[in-house]
Amino acid sequence: DRRDVLLALESSCDETAVAVVDRDRNVLANVVASQDELHRRWGGVVPEVASRAHVERVLPCLDDALKQSGKSLDDVAAVGVVTQPGLVGSLLVGLTAAKTIAWLLDVPLVAVNHIEAHLFACRWAADRDPFPAVGLVVSGGHTNLYDCRTTLDFELLGTTTDDAAGEAFDKAAAVLGLPYPGGPSLQKAALQGNPKAVRFPRTFLNNERLEFSFSGMKTSLLYAAQGQPGSQTPVPPLTPERVADLAASFQEAVVDVLVGKCEQALKATGRMALCVGGGVAANARLRERLEEMTARRKVALWISPREFCTDNAAMAAIAWDLLEAGRVSPLDVDVLPGLVR
Ligand code: KG4
Ligand code: ZN
Repeated sequence: DRRDVLLALESSCDETAVAVVDRDRNVLANVVASQDELHRRWGGVVPEVASRAHVERVLPCLDDALKQSGKSLDDVAAVGVVTQPGLVGSLLVGLTAAKTIAWLLDVPLVAVNHIEAHLFACRWAADRDPFPAVGLVVSGGHTNLYDCRTTLDFELLGTTTDDAAGEAFDKAAAVLGLPYPGGPSLQKAALQGNPKAVRFPRTFLNNERLEFSFSGMKTSLLYAAQGQPGSQTPVPPLTPERVADLAASFQEAVVDVLVGKCEQALKATGRMALCVGGGVAANARLRERLEEMTARRKVALWISPREFCTDNAAMAAIAWDLLEAGRVSPLDVDVLPGLVR
């Protein structure tokens, strides 16, 4: 049978992505069309703009992915697609394309959870199945800790009580006047700054619960940058040097909490490996500090390779594992925009 590849689609937020992955989980093509340009002027993702852009881009991305992989639709053994969580209109575009292709080719359709897919991407750091492990997903929408027994068996250990880590970086960058998207520009500004210049709170770091909160840190940054309402104390002007110091100090606070909670989860579960995925896993300071912590604890660290950190469709190759376990989805499967776990 020449049908030997998975066609994977992801359109849950603002990237239109199509990948081709073979049965050995080799990524033959990984096409991502970013919509950053479209959303920049609004300072955030506008759902309706995102849906319309997905409609325009999904078929060109599909063509590109097949071309780059040297494969054709005749080689497709199954279609994997992210159906949850995400923006409802965005998810629907990818799912409709995936259903159509699966129906046309008469091959299985496999619905994928975006967050689990982010952790699946750690396999390309490990060069094998990285589980069992503690899993941290840090992205614009999520900050979740899991006990990952296998790809098919993730237990949520804790999550954020307010903002996600990436969201906090994005909002912090906006307060500091740094360009959209905020996470990467904050990292860049932080390079020139002193991480000890301003002391931001490390919310929940000193309690046992595996929970996160970033809104207090965000408010502290706002006050440090613009002054506290009603306060007579003047704040230093936002010179490039001050912005760099605030960026470095804020990044350090977020990283401290993320690394600290990973360490607590490793202790609580006794796992000997840590997997980290999602857009914020691209952050160089986070990667450095995770390396220190895991080396000290002598546990394995599998951080998703940078190209698979931010949203992409290759990570939806978790569909191969689901398919092998018989978890095929019916053609009337629907999207699940909210998180149900
Ligand atoms: O996984 P992702 O592409 O989308 C979601 O599922 O949310 O993550 C995007 C998030 C954004 O908040 C972005 O600012 C953040 O990841 N991000 C970073 C870096 N690169 C992307 N945050 C900090 N440092 C980075 N280098
Ligand atoms: Zn994501």
